[in-house]
Amino acid sequence: MDKDLSHVSLLAIEAVLAAGEILRKGFGGQFSIEAKSGIHNLVTEYDHRSEEFIIEFLKKEFPDSLFLAEESGGKNEGSSALQWIIDPLDGTVNFAHGLPFFAISIAARKNNELICGVVYQPITHELFVAQKNVGAFLNGTRIKVSEVTELKRAFLATGFPYNLAENPGDCIGHFTDILRQGIPVRRMGVASLDLCYVASGRFDGFFEISLAPWDCAAGILLIEEAGGKVSRWDEEPLDLFAYEPILVTNGHLHQQIGKVLQQR
Ligand code: IPD
Ligand code: CA
Ligand code: CA
Repeated sequence: MDKDLSHVSLLAIEAVLAAGEILRKGFGGQFSIEAKSGIHNLVTEYDHRSEEFIIEFLKKEFPDSLFLAEESGGKNEGSSALQWIIDPLDGTVNFAHGLPFFAISIAARKNNELICGVVYQPITHELFVAQKNVGAFLNGTRIKVSEVTELKRAFLATGFPYNLAENPGDCIGHFTDILRQGIPVRRMGVASLDLCYVASGRFDGFFEISLAPWDCAAGILLIEEAGGKVSRWDEEPLDLFAYEPILVTNGHLHQQIGKVLQQR
C-alpha cells in the first residue's frame, strides 16, 4: 500500500475517533445551540469543538494541507496539495434533539481525486474507512454493496435540504414518485451514514436533491470502493462541489431509480 496514503488514512481515523469521543461526552448534556439559517438549520457548540479539534490535529502533521470544513469554510482551490473535506458533526439536528444517530466525516483529496474517506458513528462505534484502490471497510472488515436487482425489492434512504419549504428542484415531487413505487424509504438525517449504509449493503440506494461536499465526499469513496455507483440523478458524473442532485446505488438499481427520479 502507498505509504503516503496509509499515513493520511491513519491520521483521518485517529481524528474521527478522537472527535467521536468529544461528541459522545457532549451528547445528551447541556450545550449551546444556534440557528444558522431558518429555525432548523442548527449548529451546536459541539459542531465547533469537533471541527476545531480535527483541523488542529491534522494541521500538526500536514501543515501545508488545505481545509474545506462545514463550520469554518474554505474553498476548493484545485491545487495539487492535500485537501481535507470535513463534516465535524453530520446529523446536527439529531444530536441537538438527543437522537443517538450522527457521525463525523473526513475525506482527503489529492490531485483532484478522493484518496481516503472515513466516517465514524460514535454511539455505535462503527468506523467506515475507504482507501482509493484498496477497498472499503467497516471496523476492519471489507464491505460491499447489496445485490438487489429489482426496484420493487429495494430498501432506500433519502434526505431533505434545510430550505425544503421552498421545494428546491421539486424534490418533494420526486420523493413522491419514489414513494409511489411502494418501497420502504428511510430519512435518517445523516447523509454521510446514508452513503456508508449503501456501501455496506444495508440500504440499496440513496438520493437527495443536493448535498454539500462535506456531507458526501467520504461516503462517495466508500460507495465506489464497495462496488457501488455514484452519479447525478440524470446519471451524468457528479461534481462534488456543485451541490447537484445525487444518486448512489449498488449499481444494479441505478438506471431504475434514475428513471423514476427523472420522470417529471
Ligand atoms: C445534513 C444531514 C442531512 C441531509 C442534509 C445535511 P448536517 O447535514 O446530512 O441528512 O439531508 O442535506 O445538510 O447539517 O446535519 O451536518
Ligand atoms: Ca452534514
Ligand atoms: Ca454538519
